[in-house]
Amino acid sequence: MPDWLLYTGSRHPHDAVERLPPPPPWRAFDGGPVLPPPSGPSGNAHQARTYRPSDDAVQQVNAALYLRRPLLVTGPPGTGKSTLAYAVAHELRLGPVLHWPITSRTTLRDGLYQYDPLTRLYAAGRDDAPADEDIGRYIRLGPLGTALLPYGRPRVLLVDEIDKSDIDLPNDLLTIFEKGEYEIPELSRRADPSAEVMTADGPRVAVTGGTVRCHAFPLVVMTSNGEREFPPAFLRRCVSVELRQPSGEAELAAIVREHLGPLADDSDDLVRRFFERASAGTLATDQLLNAVYLCRHAGAADRRALADRVMPYLTGPADDE
Ligand SMILES: Nc1ncnc2c1ncn2[C@@H]1O[C@H](COP(=O)(O)OP(=O)(O)OP(=O)(O)O)[C@@H](O)[C@H]1O
Ligand SMILES: [Mg+2]
Repeated sequence: MPDWLLYTGSRHPHDAVERLPPPPPWRAFDGGPVLPPPSGPSGNAHQARTYRPSDDAVQQVNAALYLRRPLLVTGPPGTGKSTLAYAVAHELRLGPVLHWPITSRTTLRDGLYQYDPLTRLYAAGRDDAPADEDIGRYIRLGPLGTALLPYGRPRVLLVDEIDKSDIDLPNDLLTIFEKGEYEIPELSRRADPSAEVMTADGPRVAVTGGTVRCHAFPLVVMTSNGEREFPPAFLRRCVSVELRQPSGEAELAAIVREHLGPLADDSDDLVRRFFERASAGTLATDQLLNAVYLCRHAGAADRRALADRVMPYLTGPADDE
C-alpha cells in the first residue's frame, strides 16, 4: 500500500489524517478560531464498516484530501457512490457526515443557512423580549454552511445527487468552494455583525464579522448518476472518480460476505446468477444482497425464481421472460 494514502479502504478507524500535509498554497484557508474536530460516528454505521472501495476510488479520495478539492463521484445506481462518503468518515475518524440531498428545488442558500425572521419578529413583540436580542438563535447553518466552519480537521460533506439540481447550483457551489467562505448578510449588515449561530449537527458556534471561513477544507463528496453533463469549468475544479459494478465474482462474493458473513455454498449460485443477468441489463449490488438475504430465509424450492424477482433489471431487458 503506497504510504501517501491516508484513506486506505481498510474499514478500520485510525488517525492517519493527522499526517495530511499543508495544502497547496493556492488552496490554503485561514479561518478561525479553529474549532475542535467533531466526534461521534459517521452515520450509516453498517454501510460505512462494510464498504470495499475500488483502488481507483481510494486513490481519488486521497487526491481530493491532499488537493483540497471536491470529489465528484459518478456511476450507475447502487455502485456505492453515497456510501463512499460514510466509509471515509468512518475510517479517518472525521465525525458525522453532513448529508445534503439535492433536488431540483434546492438552492445554495438552503445548504448554507436558514434565517427565520418570523419567529424573531414574534419573539421581539413579546413583552418579555430581551432588550439586546440574540439573532444567532434564528440562524441555523445548513450542511454546506456547517462544513465550512473553521474545523481543525476536514468535515465530510455529502452533496448527494447533484445531477438532480437546478442548472445554476453546480456553478454557485464552485464559487463557494473556490473561496472557502461565505457571508451571512443578515449578520454583516448589523452594527454588531457577530453572533453565536446554530449549526447542522453540533453546539452553537460564534461567527465574527458576518463571514464564515473554513480552516481545514472539507472533504466534499458530490454524487451523480450521470443525468447531467457538467461544464468544463466545474470539472476542472473537481477530482473525479467513476464507480463501476465489481468486475469479478470473487469481489462480489467478498462484498456479500462483508455484509452478511460467510456464504453458504448455494449463495455462490446467486452470485453467479447475478453475473449472468448483469450481462443483459443494469443490476445493483444491493439487489444481490437482498437476494442472498431473502434466499437464506426462504424455502429451498424456488430460490432462483425468488432471487430473480428481487433482482429486476433497472435498465435493459424487461423482466417478463
Ligand atoms: N463496494 C461496495 N462494498 C460494499 N458494499 C457496497 C459496495 N457498493 C455498494 N454497496 C452496498 O450497496 C448499497 C447501495 O450503495 P449506495 O447507496 O452507496 O449506492 P449509490 O451508488 O449511491 O446508489 P444510487 O445511485 O441509487 O444513489 C449499500 O447498501 C452499500 O452498502
Ligand atoms: Mg446514492
